[in-house]
Amino acid sequence: MRLTREQAAGRVMVALDYPNGKAAEQLIEELKGIPCYMKVGMQLFYAAGPSFVEKLKKNGYRVFLDLKMHDIPNTVKGGANSIAKLGVDMFNVHAAGGAAMMEAAMEGVDQAVTGVASQSRPTVIAVTQLTSTSRTVLNEQIGIDGTVEAAVLRYAKLAKQAGLDGVVAAPTEVSAIKNGCGDEFVTVTPGIRPAGAEINDQSRIMTPGDALKQGTDFMVIGRPITAAADPRASLETIIEELIASE
Ligand code: C5P
Repeated sequence: MRLTREQAAGRVMVALDYPNGKAAEQLIEELKGIPCYMKVGMQLFYAAGPSFVEKLKKNGYRVFLDLKMHDIPNTVKGGANSIAKLGVDMFNVHAAGGAAMMEAAMEGVDQAVTGVASQSRPTVIAVTQLTSTSRTVLNEQIGIDGTVEAAVLRYAKLAKQAGLDGVVAAPTEVSAIKNGCGDEFVTVTPGIRPAGAEINDQSRIMTPGDALKQGTDFMVIGRPITAAADPRASLETIIEELIASE
């Protein structure tokens, strides 16, 4: 089924990988009026803080706070509680923290939103294996045997059992995750590169149209937009590609 322009824009999460709020605001100004999702990662959040996220929310954006929490369950529960109170639409934790840690994150969210009408429940997703992790690193450094794909699928199933809503994964892993965890299980995929764009340090890349065909729910796109000579035109081209894909 074809996406409307609004639906297509809502599938794109623009990675605001900037050193401070001022630099990010310049890009936001250029993209003004396009109803995309905004992703705030650790570089920007550690510099600009919760007030930057609140400003994005005030301007009507949906926000994915990509802080990849990984700590003891009690600490993650507290962190998740604070993040949920900030009003973000999505945040993440590392599946490598284990089931108890992921369940604690959900408890922290529940405590923040239960009985608070103004507080909507954020989507909570797990990082499976970072897209920068090669099989050699997985086997020899992290100490997990087998393929990256098998490790990703095992973590995705663990995240689902722990009550999370979905995972971050490479676009090449989406169909296996949907088969193993169900269509409703949300997939968020970095490593998206429009045809002809710079690959940078990503591996296992896919074009926006192909990622959509794989069943990706949201695609995180940074440098193909942020480093483009005309970021607005680049985002519009991506949205057109998504609308044109079946
Ligand atoms: O510039 P680019 O499109 O490569 O940006 C990808 C974004 O997705 C970055 O913000 C990066 O931190 C994030 N990300 C990733 N791989 C993961 C998880 C997040 O590239 N596994």
